Amino acid sequence: MCTLPVLFLILAGTASIDATTYNVTTPTEWWQTAVIYEIWPESFKDSDGDGIGDLNGITSKLSHFVDMGVTCIWLAPIYESPFVDSGYDISDFYALHSTYGTLDDFTTLVKTAQELGLKVIIDFVPNHTSDEHEWFVKAKQGIEPYYSYYIWNEGIMYGDYRGLPSNWISGFTGSTWEWVDERNAYYLHQFSKHEVDLNWRNPDVMEQMKKVLTYWLDLGIDGFRVDAVPFFVESANFTNETLSGQDVPSDTYYYLNHTETKDQPESYPLVQEWKEHINNYTVSQGNDKVRVMCTEGYSAIDYVVKWYDYGSDVPFNFFFISDGQTSAVIDTATDIVDIITKWYNNMPSDQTANWVLGNHDRSRIATKVGLYRTDGIHFLILLMSGVPTLYFGDEIGMTDTFLTWAETTDVQACNTNETEYLSWTRDPERTPYQWDNTTAAGFSTNSTPFLKVNENYLTVNLAAEKEADFSHYKNFQKAIALRNTTVWREGTVDVELIEDDVIGMSRQLDGEDPIIVLVNWANTTVTVDLDSYFADLPDTMELVIADMYSGLNDNIGDTYNKSSMYIPAYGAMVLLGTSS
Ligand code: GLC
Ligand code: MG
Repeated sequence: MCTLPVLFLILAGTASIDATTYNVTTPTEWWQTAVIYEIWPESFKDSDGDGIGDLNGITSKLSHFVDMGVTCIWLAPIYESPFVDSGYDISDFYALHSTYGTLDDFTTLVKTAQELGLKVIIDFVPNHTSDEHEWFVKAKQGIEPYYSYYIWNEGIMYGDYRGLPSNWISGFTGSTWEWVDERNAYYLHQFSKHEVDLNWRNPDVMEQMKKVLTYWLDLGIDGFRVDAVPFFVESANFTNETLSGQDVPSDTYYYLNHTETKDQPESYPLVQEWKEHINNYTVSQGNDKVRVMCTEGYSAIDYVVKWYDYGSDVPFNFFFISDGQTSAVIDTATDIVDIITKWYNNMPSDQTANWVLGNHDRSRIATKVGLYRTDGIHFLILLMSGVPTLYFGDEIGMTDTFLTWAETTDVQACNTNETEYLSWTRDPERTPYQWDNTTAAGFSTNSTPFLKVNENYLTVNLAAEKEADFSHYKNFQKAIALRNTTVWREGTVDVELIEDDVIGMSRQLDGEDPIIVLVNWANTTVTVDLDSYFADLPDTMELVIADMYSGLNDNIGDTYNKSSMYIPAYGAMVLLGTSS
């Protein structure tokens, strides 16, 4: 048992509970109890048969969220874009990508969603613009003020030979520096060369981007997911980065330690300024509408939780995925307990936790941990305190789709080669949503959508899962419903490693029936006495949810005795204490 959390809890005046029990600040704002669901607009629902998802498609499916209990949808970028990086390369912050629809379609989506009680947040991408953005087109011609919106450098002359300004490597492979003959200089890009980094040391850039925020706030949205926050500012003197020592090709991202291009102190106050801008907007409107700001950054824990201090309501917790330099290992129950306790031990105690299992950049959770373990890890993130951020399709157990090199479209993969692309491609997690067993899984009337549908759609689809007595979807619904309890909102969170292979989690509050989640991460059965792990449990508990493959489906509603709790191999159970 480590000493730090004990010390923390003593300071917090709660020394009577053990080191893995966390108090929860009672949520007061809508987003603190929200389940955020990421929609990948290209892949969610196509309304006009062109094989690409669109806004009207999303609007037609809003009841899905109400059915499921999701309360907030996040739309990945919907702006005008040449689509080199699936819309993260924005060429006009004030226009919609025409394939997705019109401004009217957008306002209809927001209005309809809000009438259904849903919140809508959108991506905000301030690190870069598309190279086709008017600002960059003018910058390339040397026209001010636009030239100074970007980061230029002439490189280092060694006699007649011109060297790069630094050894920095882009997240999408190759140098961060791209030469422009016309300007006799390089420009900086942390991602694709078609995504040109903005110069955040230039105050005009801040003024421009605040106008962008205001524009979308005027359209009634409920908040932003801010893209790529660790990458805003780079070291001003272009110092070379040191070698990481990882055994990877020398032109790929993980070859270097990103001490000069990531997590720079100057990036943090930018988020703070946007937060203040949003708050000022609310005041100027004379109402008290609360808007949320989430931030996306894969970094070491200290850098991530620091965003809380700079106005981020929800710094995404990616530690089930990666810390930015190495992929997370979630092979054992110990790994999972460690990830959870690391977050609780490091986040400010008066803030709201966040849990992410997957998104449009990373392999789907069902592929990563296997379908047997998918329900269990979802029960945990849905029932611990905080905001779970879900990726579209995970609620029905969608898995990654294999695509050949020829079928691959993602820039991050296409910048590599046929041998390497599978470690980089993000297409497998971006294939269309599987609504039913009809043409293109009900995603589109077009039988050849922009990315092919996963072959498993005949059985893995929402319609089938709604009909089945037991399904990933129904388990999702049931787990989300438990968030509407006082014990979920206010109860302590206790996370325990049980007999090596089981993750145990309790939510407890005086006078309320506790919620217990037990997730067996291994392929061996175990019978345990829960009293050895959790204090003050009632003697008996009712099984309310069990993972699809546990074999316990017929036992739902049964009473279990806490002193001999049988947990099947790979089984996951949610139990409610019975006060009687
Ligand atoms: C973020 C996005 C990713 C995108 C990158 C550049 O990491 O999630 O999809 O490629 O930023 O905008
Ligand atoms: Mg930058």
